[in-house]
Amino acid sequence: MRRRRYPPIVARFIDELKRSHNAGELRGQDEGKEVVLFGWVASYRDHGGCVFVDLRDREGITQLVFDPDLKGFGDEPKAAYATAQSLRSEWVIGIRGKVVGRGGNKNPRLPTGEVEIHVAEMTVFNKSDTTPFEIVDESNTAEEKRLEHRYLDLRRAPLQKTLRVRHRIHQTTRRYFDDQGFLELETPVMVKYTPGGARNFLVPSRMNPGKFFALAESPQLFKQLYMVAGFDRYFQIVKCFRDEDLRVDRQPEFTQIDVEMSFVNQDDIFRIIEGLIFKIWGTVLDVDLKTLYPSGRFPQMPFEESMGKYGNDKPDLRFALPHTDVTDLVIDHDGGGIAFWKPIAEKFASGQYRRDLPTEIVKALVVPAEFATKLSRAELDKLEEFVKGMGAKGLARAKVDAEGNWQQSPLAKTVTPEMRQAINAKTGAKDGDLLFFQFGKESTVQTVMANLRTHLAKKLGLIPENGHGGKWNFLWVVNPPLFEYDDERKGWAAAHHAFTRPHDDCVDLLDKDPGKVLCWRYDIVLNGFEIGGGSIRLHDPAVQAKVFRALGIEDEEAKQKFGFLLDALRFGAPPHGGIALGMDRLAMLLSGADSLRDVIPFPKTQKGTDLMTDAPSKVSAEQLAELKVRSTAEPTS
Ligand code: AMO
Repeated sequence: MRRRRYPPIVARFIDELKRSHNAGELRGQDEGKEVVLFGWVASYRDHGGCVFVDLRDREGITQLVFDPDLKGFGDEPKAAYATAQSLRSEWVIGIRGKVVGRGGNKNPRLPTGEVEIHVAEMTVFNKSDTTPFEIVDESNTAEEKRLEHRYLDLRRAPLQKTLRVRHRIHQTTRRYFDDQGFLELETPVMVKYTPGGARNFLVPSRMNPGKFFALAESPQLFKQLYMVAGFDRYFQIVKCFRDEDLRVDRQPEFTQIDVEMSFVNQDDIFRIIEGLIFKIWGTVLDVDLKTLYPSGRFPQMPFEESMGKYGNDKPDLRFALPHTDVTDLVIDHDGGGIAFWKPIAEKFASGQYRRDLPTEIVKALVVPAEFATKLSRAELDKLEEFVKGMGAKGLARAKVDAEGNWQQSPLAKTVTPEMRQAINAKTGAKDGDLLFFQFGKESTVQTVMANLRTHLAKKLGLIPENGHGGKWNFLWVVNPPLFEYDDERKGWAAAHHAFTRPHDDCVDLLDKDPGKVLCWRYDIVLNGFEIGGGSIRLHDPAVQAKVFRALGIEDEEAKQKFGFLLDALRFGAPPHGGIALGMDRLAMLLSGADSLRDVIPFPKTQKGTDLMTDAPSKVSAEQLAELKVRSTAEPTS
């Protein structure tokens, strides 16, 4: 005899009737059909002797009508009506009924709004406790509460939609790379700790007491080994782990679309990625990027230009508001009458000032007259507070008049006419324009000015507070320096990782002038977010040795840190290069979400915790003892 796992009526729906349609599917032309639907009670109303229920599943919502007097189904509608009167939100039910047109009562807001189901028979698969928050599209519930019950939050239509976006990106990516001859290959998650890059999560090894694995921050070294092994074209949709401070666009556990190719140059990689992005935008958003980029190519900008005009290497090009570096003018004009600027000129005169090392700079940003009028005095003061929050001392400003004089500015009193004219000319500032200045430590000036630029754009309505606003500004930022100066160590450090290939015409500079060495590294930027980055790798041991020397890494140290990769590169490594795209950032930008937390099914909070499972959590003294690990953390409750 067949064993029934459910009460008979449940079994009848699951085993016999079977679901015939989903809750987003039925239209006018289905009128008269007998259907079986399963789903959740999104809402219910009891009036006029009938119960109305909105039935929800992942595909949509369909209206159900429980009418005890429904004809043609014997006594069953009466029983269904009786049960329907006790239904509550989020109960899971199955129904059998007839599709009926809604006549003049159509609901234009629902794709299924032309019809409703007159229910003949129903089963309750499961009841639900009262949910801690309402499952509605626009939720006012605090994010913490929603994260605690993420499985309920995920029932909401916007999140269902976002996860579908992710699914679409995954499928498009897999299909695209398969068509292009790439193999999807896996790499280990538990790896050897290698220095540099992001901070790693460590995993103690029980079988090797005192030793630790690192969770891979990316498959970087392994994908290079795949090239050495002759796999030619690799990709992987892969989880990466970084123990970093979190921001809206950073999670400790995130997903990359990781790519590596042999026998390619930078342009070959760009073409492959551009092709992928065109495909993703087409399939996910139905946006043909050809209309914006007819050549099929994205623009490129040298790193130096990006830093100069926008203060960082991920400029949002949906609007202008460029910066102008006026340090040279300040030097030429011996400070130009501005007391704060004089020391920069003096340092230069005494030979202490070198533009190739991190130093002090002066930058200006022009807000054109048409926008400047929108900024009230109070708002200008708020801008000053905003920049102070980033470590700036203040925000010097001046309004330019028809004669090119500076008004409403303490700088106006002392600035020399020549300095003023030179700045007006270089920045292009005209009558009614507003000039903002930042000066001081280069890194601070760049960060402050970069953030001020985007902050202003939002304030002036040039871009929306969140989301893309229908604009897709892609950019490759190319040719950055191979090294950056480490002020603390007073030496050069790899700006990205030690295996990036320098430009051939810069190899001679490796020992002479490391700061001037440019390399084949690139970032892809969309609307001010870095959505990917990669490089052409060093495959040639001779140049590799020179780079290590420039970095001050001794042979022994190199062997200890990167031994297995260095070994591999000596066994016929092909020229190769690659890139990784941030899948979560792509999903965030494609779905217009405000934060990565909105596009990751089970994300971590700003503090790196999972509120739903309460992770990370304490473990027992026995577990730690087994791992030969002792915690020095203060015991907390
Ligand atoms: P990179 O470190 O630039 O390169 O990372 C590639 C892309 O991954 C995304 N990303 C993140 N997304 C969410 N949360 C994070 N914490 C996070 N960190 C990075 C970004 C970034 O552009 N192995 C190299 C790639 C290569 O050289 O091929 C790498 O990992 O969108």
